[in-house]
Amino acid sequence: MEIDVLTLFPRIFEGPLDESILKRAQKSGLVAVRVHNLRDFTHDKHRVVDDKPYGGGPGMLMKPEPIFEAVETIRREESCVVLMTPQGAPLTQERAQEFSRKPHLVIICGHYEGVDERVREALVDEEVSIGDYVLTNGALAAAVFVDAVVRLLPGVLGDEQSAGDDSFSSGLLEGPQYTRPPEFRGMQVPEVLLSGNHEAVARWLAKSARQRTKERRPDLLKED
Ligand code: ADE
Repeated sequence: MEIDVLTLFPRIFEGPLDESILKRAQKSGLVAVRVHNLRDFTHDKHRVVDDKPYGGGPGMLMKPEPIFEAVETIRREESCVVLMTPQGAPLTQERAQEFSRKPHLVIICGHYEGVDERVREALVDEEVSIGDYVLTNGALAAAVFVDAVVRLLPGVLGDEQSAGDDSFSSGLLEGPQYTRPPEFRGMQVPEVLLSGNHEAVARWLAKSARQRTKERRPDLLKED
């Protein structure tokens, strides 16, 4: 997969890309992530990327010209152009899986009060929100989005099973998990997990996943 990120703050994005699994995925060629500074697509002396909204109101909007020039330079026939915005459809594990099957993502990070509406109208294929709260900078949201998508690419997680076992991938939260030691400060690992009885363990894991989901996220159990 290839990912191009368009942002006013490339350095914000570079930290998360340079650690751990995202770093390894790039090194091993499973994903190529390129971060572009939108100011590089301006042509005036002050490299202006924002302006006041028509009709007044507080704050500044991102101007259309640098975003159009960047996207038109970078996108290809098969590209999916994504705008990070709190107005977008919420990111879910299912949507992350859909995005992970796209060959090329071009991600526009919003800033200030948002982007000129013509960017949405003419360039954007999908709008993505990472939750019902407002960040100062879409680059943070894009880093979350890229992480959620890239870890689902085949070969990125060491153990192919890992992503399949995630909370949400089965529609449920994962139940409690334990590692060694079997007893720590008087707290015991449930006996069944130490029993070696694979069927009993599987039953216990399934039951505790259902129970945890019911307690914490009953909305996930509702049928649609
Ligand atoms: N930009 C600002 N807030 C955001 C959010 N919640 N999701 C995506 N992009 C954003």
